Amino acid sequence: MPIPKMSDLDLKGKRVLIREDFNVPLKNGEVTSDLRIRAALPTIKQALKAGARIMLASHLGRPTEGVFDETYSLAPVARELSKLLKMEVPLIQNWIDGFNMGDAQIVLLENVRFNHGETDNNVELSKKMAALCDVFIMDAFATSHRAESSTCGIIKYAKEAATGPLMMSELEALSKIMDKPAHPVVAIVGGSKVSTKLALLDSLVKKVDALIIGGGIANTFLAAEGYTVGKSLYEPDLIDEAERLTIEAKQRKAEIPLPVDVIVAERFAEDAESYVRLVSQIDDNEKIFDVGPDTIKNFISIIKKAKTILWNGPIGAFEIEEFSKGTQAIAKAIADSKAFKVAGGGDTLAAIEKYHINDKIDYISTGGGAFLTVLEGKKLPVIAAFEERMIKNEKVA
Ligand code: 3PG
Repeated sequence: MPIPKMSDLDLKGKRVLIREDFNVPLKNGEVTSDLRIRAALPTIKQALKAGARIMLASHLGRPTEGVFDETYSLAPVARELSKLLKMEVPLIQNWIDGFNMGDAQIVLLENVRFNHGETDNNVELSKKMAALCDVFIMDAFATSHRAESSTCGIIKYAKEAATGPLMMSELEALSKIMDKPAHPVVAIVGGSKVSTKLALLDSLVKKVDALIIGGGIANTFLAAEGYTVGKSLYEPDLIDEAERLTIEAKQRKAEIPLPVDVIVAERFAEDAESYVRLVSQIDDNEKIFDVGPDTIKNFISIIKKAKTILWNGPIGAFEIEEFSKGTQAIAKAIADSKAFKVAGGGDTLAAIEKYHINDKIDYISTGGGAFLTVLEGKKLPVIAAFEERMIKNEKVA
């Protein structure tokens, strides 16, 4: 039996608690990227149209539980939502033991993590949250890798529970990549460390036709091939893993194309002198900060052949202009490709915004950790909670 969707339920006149992920970046009390808020708007509008009385819930940051802290208040999000929805979205404090919605059709509940027990998925807290609503909608894909009271516990105790449209569209886009992708599949994985992306690389190497790696990850693979990477960031302890992944790719006739040339400098600074070097000619005191022109050409030709593209992580230190050419070229090649394209992760989104290719990507995930959890082939705790609820309901029926 499939997990119920919000669109399967009659929401008219019901108290509907929707868990969103409004964990957005703030500066001086203002939201600096509203991507996650905008992504939730279709769900909210659909629930408004269906006549629901809506309570929106989210966490923001990692405050000390049980203590109100202005720094982590959702007040800036309430202002942003009011603007985007063109209607007042009041922020409700101290809501956990019940509150009066008055005439409001929609309210935002203050940071769920101000409640003691939220991140431990406390049973009593989950029950109290469930008691506030007739229907619980889980729409916070970006927090679905966390087993917390407002994401998981509440699913067990709510009268009715379903997934929201954002959660569903994220899962559908990722399943297109993971379960039945059109080949050739090309994944581009950048980042500083193999160790933090090992589970991802391990999962992808079993599925893709080409795995383009960048940043410190590529340096570790270069070291595994016997190249001297100077003072570049790399992980000697992960060389064995890099070798194992390379062998696994070869056995599947997939490729992990390594850089043949790179951009090096002695310092990570705007004014540092930089040079193009063959990977066999890196000096002891140099650091790799980007890929070189021949490598870019090779990566572009691989991306051109792809029918499915997954992008997570920049290829070089693109914050500095001198080291941004690799990431920029990859971004352009992805934008120009006709493949089905999915991207996710904080740095990747920053690159997508910097090179203005948002509308050229088929699906941009709102998730960081949740996005990686799915791509690593792991089950999301939220999905497990829904499955448990359904098994229990079947037994009762
Ligand atoms: C995220 O930004 O990845 C999610 O909102 C989860 O936040 P957390 O890592 O604080 O649980």
